[in-house]
Amino acid sequence: MKTISTCIFDLDGVIVDTAKYHYLAWKRLAYELGFEFLEEHNERLKGVSRMTSLDIMLEVGGLTFSQSEKEVMAARKNEWYLEYIYKMTPEEILPGVVDFLVMLRSKGIKISLGSASKNAMLILERVQLQHYFDAVIDGNKALKAKPDPQVFLLAAEELGQNPTSCVVFEDAAAGIEAAKAAGMKCIGIGSPNVLGKADKVVPGFVNATIDLIKF
Ligand code: G6P
Ligand code: MG
Repeated sequence: MKTISTCIFDLDGVIVDTAKYHYLAWKRLAYELGFEFLEEHNERLKGVSRMTSLDIMLEVGGLTFSQSEKEVMAARKNEWYLEYIYKMTPEEILPGVVDFLVMLRSKGIKISLGSASKNAMLILERVQLQHYFDAVIDGNKALKAKPDPQVFLLAAEELGQNPTSCVVFEDAAAGIEAAKAAGMKCIGIGSPNVLGKADKVVPGFVNATIDLIKF
């Protein structure tokens, strides 16, 4: 049996549901640009960096802009997004997550965040989870977006762990690909239809035990 030393968690969609706030902020930008951004389009933005999300959004609206115009738009979207984030409380942590983190700590397993978000640290602070994490690799530290494995490899490196003893928790297909490319085990959080390439898929952390990370 494979011994896991380190659990690496994606943030959005695994620990908290911030996708709904990203959606509201992108929708507001789309509205200002004169088109409607639907929830079904939002699925394509999961796990993807802020600028790539903007490119996908503009593609949906059939619009093109210069790099500097896009940077202004991305910054505005982020301001609107942050209005929601500042209001977040620990009640928004997804069910079962805290118990799972406590269990991992009690077994001496290292815990890292591996997120594309540049707001990850702020979100962890808002929901008061930061003290569970031995390392936080976010979109400021990892410049290559998932499916590139960089974010997860940096987490393993910061903790001095071999990638083969790490497991990644992910809700996005791009994240599963990144974990596999890093040579790590991967557990999908969500539906097997989207996350079929993961080693295991579970709907969430409710009642999860150490058996979840036994392979
Ligand atoms: C996560 C989310 C994406 C988001 C990205 C960047 O990966 O799943 O939807 O675009 O983070 O987030 P940021 O907070 O930096 O705009
Ligand atoms: Mg995610």
